Amino acid sequence: MGGIYLLVFFGLFSLNKALDNGLALTPPMGWLTWQRFRCITDCEKYPDECISENLIKRMADIMLDEGYLEAGYNYVGIDDCWLEKQRDDNGRLVPDRNRFPNGMKAIADYLHKKGFKFALYQDYGNKTCMGYPGVLGHEATDIQSFVDWDVDYIKLDGCYVDTGKMDDGYPYFGKLMNESGRPMVYSCSWPAYQNKPNYASIANHCNLWRNWDDIQDSWSSLSRIMKWFAENQDDFAKYARPGQWNDPDMLLIGNFGLSLDQAKVQMAVWSILAAPLLMSVDLKTIRPEFKEVLLNRDIIAIDQDSLGRQGLRVWNKSNCEIWNRKLSDGSYAIAFVNKRDDGAPYAVKVSLDTMSIPKQAYEVQDLYKEEKPRSFGPGGDFETRINPSGVKFFKFIPKTSNEVKTDT
Ligand SMILES: *[C@@H]1O[C@H](CO)[C@@H](O)[C@H](O)[C@H]1NC(C)=O
Ligand SMILES: *[C@@H]1O[C@H](CO)[C@@H](O)[C@H](O)[C@H]1NC(C)=O
Ligand SMILES: *[C@@H]1O[C@H](CO)[C@@H](O)[C@H](O)[C@H]1NC(C)=O
Repeated sequence: MGGIYLLVFFGLFSLNKALDNGLALTPPMGWLTWQRFRCITDCEKYPDECISENLIKRMADIMLDEGYLEAGYNYVGIDDCWLEKQRDDNGRLVPDRNRFPNGMKAIADYLHKKGFKFALYQDYGNKTCMGYPGVLGHEATDIQSFVDWDVDYIKLDGCYVDTGKMDDGYPYFGKLMNESGRPMVYSCSWPAYQNKPNYASIANHCNLWRNWDDIQDSWSSLSRIMKWFAENQDDFAKYARPGQWNDPDMLLIGNFGLSLDQAKVQMAVWSILAAPLLMSVDLKTIRPEFKEVLLNRDIIAIDQDSLGRQGLRVWNKSNCEIWNRKLSDGSYAIAFVNKRDDGAPYAVKVSLDTMSIPKQAYEVQDLYKEEKPRSFGPGGDFETRINPSGVKFFKFIPKTSNEVKTDT
């Protein structure tokens, strides 16, 4: 009998075993090079865009001066293309000597002094996706380098390695990270390379994980990712919680491919998904209306909600969708997304049941402040109009029972 109880106890225990590094208790926020700056390495031709110490320092300065850090964007990260093509004589990774003349520790010091944390990319395979040396066969040496450089966050990609090796390889790398003694956020690309990922294991070993394809700078790419996340949400949404997050990839907001309405869609849906908010944009030239979307405090608060429960798409009809996330204070974030391309704003009229929220009276606030606050419920249909490839994003706040009770 005792044995059975013990077994049950340990069974439950291992179900709840998560990566216990105390990090990423809310989805990581920050800025990362890849989506906007890719693998631009020619600093003579493109001095303001090449992956370099200068780029990182310039962006961090702006993030500090213009309120991004204060809003929560505290990781600054270098994605692929920071390395020399060869390791040194001791088998260690070497940052590109021209673009990072002072090495990575200098970058970490600069960022830390300003209140940021330092994120760095590597790849579990023989090479990074762009062909620089990967960690395979050098795991311990490379983690020591990351520790020596005061790295706070490792994004580990999955090019140039057999996908079958990942189920053991990613946990092994995580174990070495843990043994290094330096707390570092562990971002895994593991599931993005597999057909049937073992999410239970992934969630136990990573702080965040890229589920699927890389995002590209277009509405069609963003739409595809939303569609995939909606259609597969039952496989992985349940694993999101403090310390472990699904990652639909970087924010496109402020770049070339999204209209302002489409940018608002991404910010809304990413916050419903409890997704990492990783900007990748030139913060020097970003237009003010896009900056305002990135700095929307009410929406950031939805993303960072302490309950850490990932929202779901709960309705899809005539190419309009409703996304719903329950929040720690008992309210609900509800996004109406219009994927139609007919000209006029599209009107929807839906009940609380359709939105999948309890039948009661709510104060409804528009998080983009396009509509005035209103009272709604428990009966009747909620009406709103959504721009083509746009969003209406509301917080449904239950009216307190006190208010109801004052009548009786
Ligand atoms: C990685 O390199 C090893 C050793 O050279 C080789 O055996 C292996 O096939 C390579 N794997 C991939 C996926 O390139
Ligand atoms: C390593 O793992 C242990 C046990 O899960 C945890 O208590 C500790 O904080 C971890 N250390 C680091 C540096 O992640
Ligand atoms: C939503 O429903 C429409 C039909 O109304 C369908 O064409 C579309 O594929 C669905 N979208 C998703 C993301 O499932």
